[in-house]
Amino acid sequence: MPIFENHVLESRRKRAAGVFGDDPPTVLFSSGKPVQIPGGQDQTYPFVPYPEYYWLTGSRRWGGVLAFDPQDGWTHFVRPVSPNERLWEGGGEEVEGEDVAGLQSWLEQRPGRPVAVIGAAVDNVKNDDQRAKALQVSIDGVRRRKDAAEIALIERAAAATAAGHARAREAIRPGVSERRIRVEMEAEMFRQGADGVAFDTIVGAGTHAAVLHFEPGARTVKPDDLVLIDAGAAIAGYAADVTRTYPAGDRFTPRQQAIYDLVLAAQLEAVSTCRRDVEWHEVHRAAARVIALGLCDLGILKGEPDEVLESGAVSLFLPHGVGHMVGLGVRDVGGRAAGREVSVYCGIRMRLDLPLEEGFLMTVEPGVYFVPALLDDSERRERYAGMVDWDALEPWRPVGGVRIEDNVLITAAEPRILTSEIPK
Ligand code: GLY
Ligand code: MN
Ligand code: MN
Repeated sequence: MPIFENHVLESRRKRAAGVFGDDPPTVLFSSGKPVQIPGGQDQTYPFVPYPEYYWLTGSRRWGGVLAFDPQDGWTHFVRPVSPNERLWEGGGEEVEGEDVAGLQSWLEQRPGRPVAVIGAAVDNVKNDDQRAKALQVSIDGVRRRKDAAEIALIERAAAATAAGHARAREAIRPGVSERRIRVEMEAEMFRQGADGVAFDTIVGAGTHAAVLHFEPGARTVKPDDLVLIDAGAAIAGYAADVTRTYPAGDRFTPRQQAIYDLVLAAQLEAVSTCRRDVEWHEVHRAAARVIALGLCDLGILKGEPDEVLESGAVSLFLPHGVGHMVGLGVRDVGGRAAGREVSVYCGIRMRLDLPLEEGFLMTVEPGVYFVPALLDDSERRERYAGMVDWDALEPWRPVGGVRIEDNVLITAAEPRILTSEIPK
């Protein structure tokens, strides 16, 4: 069964060709090649095709090129399955198309026309960098809006992720290791249909929760720890990305609960802001504002909340953007609106700076963390000297950190949370 039906691919190709401009170049969408593991002889890292190629062909096979000619339209060149491949790997997916060995002569039949390559470099092809860069921006613009076939895959990944979180929640208790929780989480995601993990599963107990992408280890959960789990199933390259923070036992300590309540309020506020035409940095600001006010109420930050927010003092505790695009991979598309270079809001350099459109799928994942590397940094302590009550802050450090993350689809009306069945 193909991953995407023909009519889906045709519609994507039509939308892509629609942004190639009046005098398009020859365009090559290239899948790429596997990367060798250093010292690994014939071993390679798991192959991930360039997303534009996969999106337009439904093939995750390496070595393919989808070519576009302004007169003749689309030709898919594929790497034929070799006998050796059948022996070692079982043949993989059979993909219809021309043998990629014919690409050179196809190009030679189109002399003098510039070639723009999107994805991996293609051997013996001179890429027109400028045109390729401009085309990449246009294709990104098309690909940001998820179609129904993509949403269906992401919903399946979200369901497997939900099952994983439910199993992980059951597995958490004092004495269990972070690694064991990861194993339980991932095993359940695979049982429920995942064919991979969208990224290395993060499990951080206690102060490990203050490391944003903590790799779970042998440390066991203590009775007063909280446990932050950030994980996602992948299905056919489509991803969910969900963080929940759980107590080790039945309930949080009062300080953990205060931070949890604050992050949850920030997350709910940010999610409700996720509407068509709203700037993404406004979603970040909405979360950061709730956190700035809350940390002022708790006596950790002090001064005018607006100043705490805009000066960036709040970024001592919320040191990352509120989220990112997710879907085809855990970091989908991204980018900035035309003319925007550097986008710093509330002390954070945002990697995505665009107004939201219908069909965008965003993670919304504010957090509050007590990160020694930030709180003990002399330059930051000086910069924010008057806005932090450094003594009041001390007893909060053992909380570690809390993050809550959902995957939110922008619609014509209310935001739709694809991960809403995971309790928080
Ligand atoms: N899973 C990494 C992140 O939350 O972006
Ligand atoms: Mn995440
Ligand atoms: Mn994320």
